[in-house]
Amino acid sequence: MSRIVTPFFLATLVPLIAGHGHISNIVINGVSYEGWDINVFPYETDPPAVIAWGTPNTSNGFITPDQYNSTDIICHLSATNAKGHAPVAAGDKVNLQWTAWPDTHHGPVITYLANCGDSCETVDKTTLEFFKISAVGLIDDTDVPGTWGDDQLIANNNSWLVEIPPTLKPGYYVLRNEIIALHGAEEIDGAQNYPQCINLQVTGSGTAEPSGVLGTELYSSTDAGIYVNIYSTLSTYEIPGPTLFSGAVSITQSSSSITASGTPVTGSGSASGSVSATQTTTLGVTSTTSTAITTSQTSATSTFTTFQTSTTSAPTTTATTAISGGSTQSIYGQCGGSDWTGATACNTQATCTSYNPYYYQCVPTAN
Ligand SMILES: *[C@@H]1O[C@H](CO)[C@@H](O)[C@H](O)[C@H]1NC(C)=O
Ligand SMILES: *[C@@H]1O[C@H](CO)[C@@H](O)[C@H](O)[C@H]1NC(C)=O
Ligand SMILES: *[C@@H]1O[C@H](CO)[C@@H](O)[C@H](O)[C@H]1NC(C)=O
Repeated sequence: MSRIVTPFFLATLVPLIAGHGHISNIVINGVSYEGWDINVFPYETDPPAVIAWGTPNTSNGFITPDQYNSTDIICHLSATNAKGHAPVAAGDKVNLQWTAWPDTHHGPVITYLANCGDSCETVDKTTLEFFKISAVGLIDDTDVPGTWGDDQLIANNNSWLVEIPPTLKPGYYVLRNEIIALHGAEEIDGAQNYPQCINLQVTGSGTAEPSGVLGTELYSSTDAGIYVNIYSTLSTYEIPGPTLFSGAVSITQSSSSITASGTPVTGSGSASGSVSATQTTTLGVTSTTSTAITTSQTSATSTFTTFQTSTTSAPTTTATTAISGGSTQSIYGQCGGSDWTGATACNTQATCTSYNPYYYQCVPTAN
């Protein structure tokens, strides 16, 4: 029997055999943090601390609308809290690097934040209330099924850039970045949600505390933006989920080059991190700013320090802290790493300490 293959048939069949995706790493001001490696970590008894939430599921799969009321929609299938977090200043941008996203999977890219209270490493995910900070749906429907947020993500090296709202109150937040694939959404429960969560500590002086909604209440299977036929011309597309936070900042997509490898901050600290040192050094035509954030543990005698390195392409830089003596690096300055060409000796109050192969830093010597 011969079979007539119609364009519609192709359109609905092809995606079923295409691959799916997840976030492989997260780049914040040039520092790359490893994501949850679904090909390795589910098989390990003690996977490393990363800033991404974990899943035991190795299928690289998705959540369907009939599961919108299950806890799997919050941060993916049977997700467990990330064991660490990354510092980021309100107003900074976070680049979420996905694995190669199939161009058959059209749909919106949506990003949320939810305040964790004392710790995103221990928060109960069912209590997180998410507010939307970025949403890109249908961009252009001239050429049905159209150009969507996820097509922009593919064009952006399979990555998505989002700005942490500048007015946001400092604290611990889960960032939830999600692609919703609509290639099968003309049928009820045919949409596919790919949520990914990471833990952040947002610093700054903002005061905004946006209200949000529980993960299990974000969507319903009959939402206009969920149960939709993208193979017919759409005059409008309604991005699902709650309305955008008024302090959200819309930005142009661009990818972030990696200048250092980040180490997740672990341990539960108080939400009030204090900046203990800031230093700017000149490095060719780029400027590197290292900010040390010291967080005191509430019940321990030790303090620990985390570092955020930001790199911009500003042609000129101004030293905000004098660098002591020509070849000697001052406290909290970089003193080594694979591409480092500056001073490798620290001043007398500090010791050059390796954080990873890319970044060594002058850490105050214990008295
Ligand atoms: C992973 O998720 C898929 C789809 O929901 C399911 O069929 C599979 O059993 C899951 N595997 C594990 C190990 O959880
Ligand atoms: C979840 O929603 C589905 C419909 O999509 C419904 O059949 C099911 O009973 C709901 N489960 C709970 C626990 O509310
Ligand atoms: C593009 O993404 C790959 C990882 O998928 C990464 O290795 C590469 O550095 C990225 N390129 C740019 C310009 O960001």
